[in-house]
Amino acid sequence: MAEKKPLAATPPMGWNSWNMFGSNLNEELIRETADAIVSTGLRECGYEYVVIDDCWTVKDGRDPHGNLVPDPRKFPNGIKALADYVHGLGLKIGIYSDAADRTCAGYPGSYGFEEQDAALWASWGIDFLKYDYCNAPEDQESAINRYTRMGEALRKTGREILYSLCEWGGRNPHLWGRSVGGHMWRVSGDVFDSWVNIWKDTYYGIGVDVSLEIGAQLAEYGGVGGWNDLDMLVVGLKGKGQVSGGGLSFLEYQTHMSMWCMACSPLMIGCDVRYLDQETASLLMNREVLAVDQDPLGIPAKRLLKRGDCEVWKKPLSDGAVAVALLNRGSSGADLTVNAGEIGLLDDPPKLVRDLWAQQDVAEFTKEISRRVQPHETKLLKIDST
Ligand code: GLA
Repeated sequence: MAEKKPLAATPPMGWNSWNMFGSNLNEELIRETADAIVSTGLRECGYEYVVIDDCWTVKDGRDPHGNLVPDPRKFPNGIKALADYVHGLGLKIGIYSDAADRTCAGYPGSYGFEEQDAALWASWGIDFLKYDYCNAPEDQESAINRYTRMGEALRKTGREILYSLCEWGGRNPHLWGRSVGGHMWRVSGDVFDSWVNIWKDTYYGIGVDVSLEIGAQLAEYGGVGGWNDLDMLVVGLKGKGQVSGGGLSFLEYQTHMSMWCMACSPLMIGCDVRYLDQETASLLMNREVLAVDQDPLGIPAKRLLKRGDCEVWKKPLSDGAVAVALLNRGSSGADLTVNAGEIGLLDDPPKLVRDLWAQQDVAEFTKEISRRVQPHETKLLKIDST
């Protein structure tokens, strides 16, 4: 029998209801989404967790026993039946709560009910919890305390439940996420479908460009079993949904994927996969690109150098090669030249360079490599290091 992979050995992959559907979710949507994850081939690419985000319970409270109650209009057959269905497809199911009395959208939260809620979720077969932090005290100590309570409650269930922390990075969860039992922690407020931040000086409505910058600062903290979460993917939203910022261009969506993979971020799809267009499918399902994210070494890329608006990032891979991203964050095209020494390679013997998006060997690399990089584009290369 194949050895069982430990939880979050590689960055978790899946789908989450929030970005596209917000409160407008129900069991039919989740079932159809799970079906689509199978029929489109997403499951075979590694997308595994189907996560029900906020707004799945009744809004006005708990039942007389203190249990959370799935909204019967949205989930008439309850979550257990849905979990069985999702499991039957070879997928896993996730759910959402908050470390306070109320979730971000104002539904009952789990503070003070940690053990009861964790036991309920375990009895349903839940595999993943996203635990939010709206309406909770701002200080770090309270956050650590509240996340510890839920982490312990999850552990007590005896069920393997992946624990996804969502306090948006303000209390440095990269420093304590693992010790409270977390497997991933958000590093920013919600990333919107936009290149730049939506609002000035806010914590929410983050642009893709800003999120990857935050990720760059935290690279050393991500690794096997505990990942910097740059937030759900906006690929394929194209201006629709809860986090609309007008949408990104194709090259920007591609950069978003490239850099989330370089950063070893979890990859949680946010678009409607029941209607997956070809362009979006090509971005979500390029196996050579996904292999960078899922590489078993689990070492997030480091930014090696900046040249004008262009940057060079490098990520070591388990086969001895390196992934190199040539990223242009500026608004005009640029020719970027990098020599072997700058990316820590010897210039002899020649090395094979593969363009991962094109899945083609493109060059023999000796002393240097040059690429024209369009505005907001990323060239994602794999370079043999021998
Ligand atoms: C917060 C989180 C989002 C989403 C919403 C739900 O904003 O950061 O990812 O879960 O709450 O209300």
